[in-house]
Amino acid sequence: ESGKLWGGRFVGAVDPIMEKFNSSITYDRQLWEVDVQGSKAYSRGLEKAGLLTKAERDQILQGLDKVAEEWARGTFKLNSNDEDIHTANERRLKELIGDTAGKLHTGRSRNDQVVTDLRLWMRQNCSTLSALLRELIKTMVDRAEAEHDVLFPGYTHLQRAQPIRWSHWILSHAVALTRDSERLLEVRKRVNVLPLGSGAIAGNPLGVDRELLRAELKFGAITVNSMDATSERDFVAEFLFWASLCMTHLSRMAEDLILYGTKEFSFVQLSDAYSTGSSLMPQKKNPDSLELIRSKAGRVFGRCAGLLMTLKGLPSTYNKDLQEDKEAVFEVSETMSAVLQVATGVISTLQIHRENMWQALSPDMLATDLAYYLVRKGMPFRQAHEASGKAVFMAETKGVALNQLSLQELQTISPLFSGDVSHVWDYGHSVEQYTALGGTSSSSVNWQIGQVRALLRAQ
Ligand code: ARG
Repeated sequence: ESGKLWGGRFVGAVDPIMEKFNSSITYDRQLWEVDVQGSKAYSRGLEKAGLLTKAERDQILQGLDKVAEEWARGTFKLNSNDEDIHTANERRLKELIGDTAGKLHTGRSRNDQVVTDLRLWMRQNCSTLSALLRELIKTMVDRAEAEHDVLFPGYTHLQRAQPIRWSHWILSHAVALTRDSERLLEVRKRVNVLPLGSGAIAGNPLGVDRELLRAELKFGAITVNSMDATSERDFVAEFLFWASLCMTHLSRMAEDLILYGTKEFSFVQLSDAYSTGSSLMPQKKNPDSLELIRSKAGRVFGRCAGLLMTLKGLPSTYNKDLQEDKEAVFEVSETMSAVLQVATGVISTLQIHRENMWQALSPDMLATDLAYYLVRKGMPFRQAHEASGKAVFMAETKGVALNQLSLQELQTISPLFSGDVSHVWDYGHSVEQYTALGGTSSSSVNWQIGQVRALLRAQ
């Protein structure tokens, strides 16, 4: 006997190199718990279908509990023939309860088993990641609320653009993450579908009730076509894309903070808990946490692209290529868990230098408001833009700040300028004008905070 689940039709031995190449136990052992869970449900299904007696079912259930216990205690001993978690658990079950174990796999294939396991594992994992992501968003919103009075420069093209609230910047990233949060729950819905009972390709001929299996394993629905069910990995691709987009958002936020943390900006300072030093330059405090968040994005994108390439052009139904889905899922899940927790730590401990942020504001950033001043006096915006541009040019040629031009000088550009133009040169007044929902005024920022909090509550 070859000791393999599929040994019957084989005579020759497998090349040890091939044995190792084929094996997935080094990573799919992580599925031990969901594999036992799936098998327990399946043995119940077999009993209901009349393929196991109640006594046999209970023997299998108890045996499976023992298998799980060994895994949980760390006493489960793998042997060299355990090519994957399904093989290992069934082998051990047989050692524990004898030949009845051989009835468990009746009508089941590892093809429907593995994808059931993976969906069970990912369903739990999506919930875990969702909680971590919400925690991050909540941390950001709390900061936005606490520091809504802090103003600093907003940038486009990394050039000074307009004064904004620091909270508005935080919320710009938090709002992106709320979409990721929503998206993850959508992904979870499509993960939460039961493929068990699909067999290897054709389905189940022994009358197993898939609705019963669904209820046992608390899936939201059952898959519709056994050929599709055993081979589609859309739910994996969607998860990896979710992670890729979430990492895109987090890496952009990380990049902003790295920049704002340089001496040249000095807007923020990372806490020591999320920084590291240099082995050579004693003065250095580097934002490694943020750099690693930025870099992990590349790793996650790679996994997403890699899986899609594996799936592309596969012939119908199960092919061993599909074994490659799990490392992607495990690695990305672990990465996302770490990244979300580190990001939460970074944001909650970040110091801001309000004074530097305020000092970085400059009157030229109010040129847009100067144009709006003229618009409010009745000038068409295109002309107002031109007039404000002329004022910027005049200030530049005279070597003074935009707000240092005298009223007389401004009036050479347009007679609509009058004494009240002095109100334009007030950063607080500037941001408070942006009251339309979504803007940087305090009323709008408060509204944004309310929107994000409501989204978190609704999810
Ligand atoms: N370890 C395999 C995987 O991860 C289990 C399914 C194997 N099925 C098969 N027919 N060889 O995909």
